[in-house]
Amino acid sequence: EKAGYKHFMQKEIHEQPRTIGDTITGFLSSKDEDLYRMIKDTDKLYIIACGTSYHAALVGKFWIEKFARIPVEVDYASEYRYRDRIIDKKTVVMGISQSGETADTRFALLDAKNEGAKTLSLVNVVGSSLSRETDFVLYTYCGPEIGVAATKTFTAQLVALLLFALEAGLGRKTITKDDYEKIHNELLHIPSKVEEILKKDDEIKDLAHRYMNASDFLFLGRNINYPIALEGALKLKEISYIHAEGYPAGEMKHGPIALIDEKLPVVCVIPNDRYYEKMFSNIQEVKARKGKVISVATEGDKQIENVSDEVIYIPETLDPLYPILTVIPLQQLSYHIATLLGKDVDQPRNLAKTVTVE
Ligand code: F6R
Repeated sequence: EKAGYKHFMQKEIHEQPRTIGDTITGFLSSKDEDLYRMIKDTDKLYIIACGTSYHAALVGKFWIEKFARIPVEVDYASEYRYRDRIIDKKTVVMGISQSGETADTRFALLDAKNEGAKTLSLVNVVGSSLSRETDFVLYTYCGPEIGVAATKTFTAQLVALLLFALEAGLGRKTITKDDYEKIHNELLHIPSKVEEILKKDDEIKDLAHRYMNASDFLFLGRNINYPIALEGALKLKEISYIHAEGYPAGEMKHGPIALIDEKLPVVCVIPNDRYYEKMFSNIQEVKARKGKVISVATEGDKQIENVSDEVIYIPETLDPLYPILTVIPLQQLSYHIATLLGKDVDQPRNLAKTVTVE
């Protein structure tokens, strides 16, 4: 059932062109008019989640604020549950959970519902608790994810959040039909662009070989790719047990830059978007302190080679769509580092696929 792959995680990474495509199709063929009617008058959206789903929520915030102009706050479910949140009848609380069973996310949503919020869930498992307990449900269409580390469900969550933001924006008249179509059309090319990145698996494995003995990693990104830095760090630590931290690149000079020396690999997410120049100068700061720079950059960007020890190229896309591509090589990198170190990537120590206890 691993279909020729060594691990479920590897199979699930390589399934992404299909699961992204299925999520686009599934999402577009199940549009719930009542949901978008409600979203028209929403004036505050909280998104709550744990782990990788929380990172998807952080990316979703950028899209929903940009396209639908709804203020969004993202919280860890375990924190949201115990704080004095402000809810009224125009507040929507969205829970994101692959399994749909995560206790913190479930109970936080139930509490918010009791306080008068409308609730919405984004889940992968049909019939899961979360999908039954919320007013509205959106799905990712990935089929079962067996590997403990979330991979294909993360990119599908991103796709669903983007489509949700675009649909909401159309209803609220905060984007034009032209912009909507432009992004939609480009989204349809994402599966083949992911396929391109997956072809670099051997190259990424060689790179993994060169850095597998590092004891710490830093991951940096800006704006919509900052949550991807967080996700890259989480993937690496959970399956390889190497300490890793993700940071917004602009925050580096406020502390973490002190960590940089010639032993520290720094993974820098730097696509060709409007934050390129800012990110580039952050990378120069890392290089000036002799950090080992591993850049994830857009095909054709030659200048990045001057400040990087390694470059993994990804295909070009529209600015808002980059996170769906930039995360792929980070999944591959952590997979290869962990397997080269002989770790059990499908069943990492101390972790469970579904966390039904608080
Ligand atoms: C990381 C991972 C966990 C889950 C988290 C939430 O790879 O798998 O961090 O993302 O436990 O799980 P769900 O999405 O099922 O609520």
